[in-house]
Parts: sequence; structure tokens; C-alpha cells
Amino acid sequence: MSTPSLRAVLDTVAAYQPAAGLHDPAARPRPLSANESPHPPLPGIVEAIARAGATVNRYPDPGCGPLIRTLARHHGIDEDRIAVGAGSLALLQSLFQSVADPGAEAVYAWPSFEVYPTLAALAGVTPVQVPLTDETHDLRAMAGRITDRTRLVIVCNPNNPTGTGADPAELRAFLASVPPTCLVAVDEAYHEYARGPAAPSTLPLCADHPNLVVLRTFSKAYGLAGLRTGYLVGDARVVERLRKACLPYAVNTVAQHAAVAALGLEEQLLRRVDETVAERTRVRDTLLRGGWPVPDSLTNFLWLPLGPFAADFGTWCADRGVAVRAFADVGVRVSIGSAEDDDRFLAAADEWRSTGRPVTAGAGQTQQPRKAAEA
Ligand SMILES: Cc1ncc(COP(=O)(O)O)c(C=O)c1O
Repeated sequence: MSTPSLRAVLDTVAAYQPAAGLHDPAARPRPLSANESPHPPLPGIVEAIARAGATVNRYPDPGCGPLIRTLARHHGIDEDRIAVGAGSLALLQSLFQSVADPGAEAVYAWPSFEVYPTLAALAGVTPVQVPLTDETHDLRAMAGRITDRTRLVIVCNPNNPTGTGADPAELRAFLASVPPTCLVAVDEAYHEYARGPAAPSTLPLCADHPNLVVLRTFSKAYGLAGLRTGYLVGDARVVERLRKACLPYAVNTVAQHAAVAALGLEEQLLRRVDETVAERTRVRDTLLRGGWPVPDSLTNFLWLPLGPFAADFGTWCADRGVAVRAFADVGVRVSIGSAEDDDRFLAAADEWRSTGRPVTAGAGQTQQPRKAAEA
């Protein structure tokens, strides 16, 4: 029987591969594959959710008024510089759609957030992927790939999946080098976890660069992944047009109220982020002591550059009840979770190492790498 004709890209684009166990909130241990907050929502947020839940026979506020007002106060900027979306993912999709004239190209580093290629393909934008150097954005190489066809440049900072941050001075120089007609999106989904010299946000630079938008999310540090809320900040003239590319009513009532409540409880939430950062140091130090060359992370996850051994290590962890994110032939990303879940991961990693298996892409090529799907 014949099926309807759909765009050919839907036959080739990769479907998103969620990690095992992600949809079962009761699953223990919790997966370390989705960079979620291990903390349940604070009571004040649960109360806001319950209150908002009692009104869902009505459509949400399409302009996200109270949330945008709260964000504007929070960042000390005008409301017309903010657009809210159903997760920063929805905003990223709007960005790709907003630049997708015939022949448009999008430049971004690789490996980076695995959804960028899918969004590019769906929008009909040609992706130009620029390899990372030493697990970090090669901004000079990226600048060299910008042409008059480039409509969008994405800098995922800190980068998912490697956890690394771009040098702030290099990033400023890069932004200054991008033609003002080309939109630049800095995806700061993990900004709150960044510490040290590479930590500053790009957000204040929006004032100098009308072609710059910065994306943030409530899914990570604010612990609202299940509600799907993110936002972007940019020049008011750009934001006005980007808002038109967002679906009306996309950000639901419960999400809007929860996000406002979360901003009101930011101090407590950021203390939890501090705990995650301390736990990140503990897990990384343990791995470094075991000989794993784990890059310094500015996020709530760590990166194991295992190259050809990544898929096997992902399967190895899964067999021990630990879901991690394996990128075949590249590396493995492991989220920072509760100390108990992290210890289970560390035990799996130590067992792998103690059996003589390689802890880096280059070392101990004693086993043949086996191609496998993402864990
Ligand atoms: C770099 C990056 N950007 C954006 C997102 C999407 O976040 P959201 O939950 O706000 O859609 C993620 C989620 O993992 C991410 O890693």
C-alpha cells in the first residue's frame, strides 16, 4: 500500500534516541545520560505547579507576560529583548527556521549538541560542522568557514557533550569577526555550572552585537526539564521577528508559573548547583586518579574521549545498570547525578579499567572496537 508523500529528508534524518529508563521516574538508579538535575523540585515550585494546574482549562498567556517581566528584572534588560519557548530546543528550531532561505548554511562545532544537525536538516539548512580542537571550540577555524551563505552560527558554550568552555577573549574576537548580517546563537544551557576563567556569560555582549542571541534553559540548573521552558535574549528588533517564528501558546501555563517560582527561589537552586559542581569535582578527580583523561567540565556532565571504545563502554555501563550517553567512535558523556548513582558509575568505570580495557581513544588498543548504537 502506498503511503503519503512526505519530504525526503524525513527518510534520512536521524530520530532522536532517548536513553533507556528516562521515561520511568521510578527507575533506579536514575540514568546519567540526559544531564538532568538529580534534585526534585523545591516545595515552592511544586505549590506553584499545583496552583497553575487548577487553571489549565484556559489557554496559557501567549505572551508569557509575568515570566518575561521576571526575566527582564532578573537580567536588568528590557522585556522586548526576551523570547520564551517550549525549552531552548524549540527556540533553536525557530532559529533554524528563521534563517532557512534556499542555500542557507549553519556553522557549528562538532561534536556538539546532537540535535543541531537534525534541526538543520528539518529546516533545509546546510550544516557546516567544524571539528573541535582538544575537545574545545576552534573559533578560528569556525570563522574561516563563514561565507556569504552562512545565516546562522551556533556556539554551544559550555559545549555539550565535551563540557568545555570557549576562551572568553577568543569568543569576543570571534563575535566581532562574524558579519553583522549573520545570526550568532550562543547556547548557554549549562551556564550556571560554569566556574573559573572560562565561565563568563556572553549575555552582556548582546548590547554590542545586534546579531547575537543567547539561549538559556530552565531544564538544567533550575530543575524543570519536564516542563520544557527556555528563553533567548537578543536585540529587540531581532527578538520581535524571532517571536513570530514561535508557535503561539507553546509555553504552557504550568511551565510559565513554575519558571517564575524558580526564579524567585534562585538562591536555593543555585546552592544545589554548587553541590553538583562539588560532586563533579569528586567524580572527575576519581576518574583522573584512575588514569581517565577527563577534560575539565563547566557543566553537569563529564566527557570520556574513548573514541573507538565509546560504544563498548556505553554497553558495559548499561549492563551494570548505569545509563550513560555513548557517541559511537567519539566518546561517552556521563551526567553528574546523586552521589549514590555516581558511585555506581565509578564502580563500573573502575571495573572496566581493572580488566585492562582502554581508558583513552589512543591507548591500549588491545581490543577491536565494536560498532554499536548509542547506549
Ligand atoms: C546544549 C543544549 N542546548 C539546549 C538543550 C535543550 O534544552 P531544553 O530542555 O531547554 O530544550 C540541551 C539539552 O540537553 C543542551 O544540552
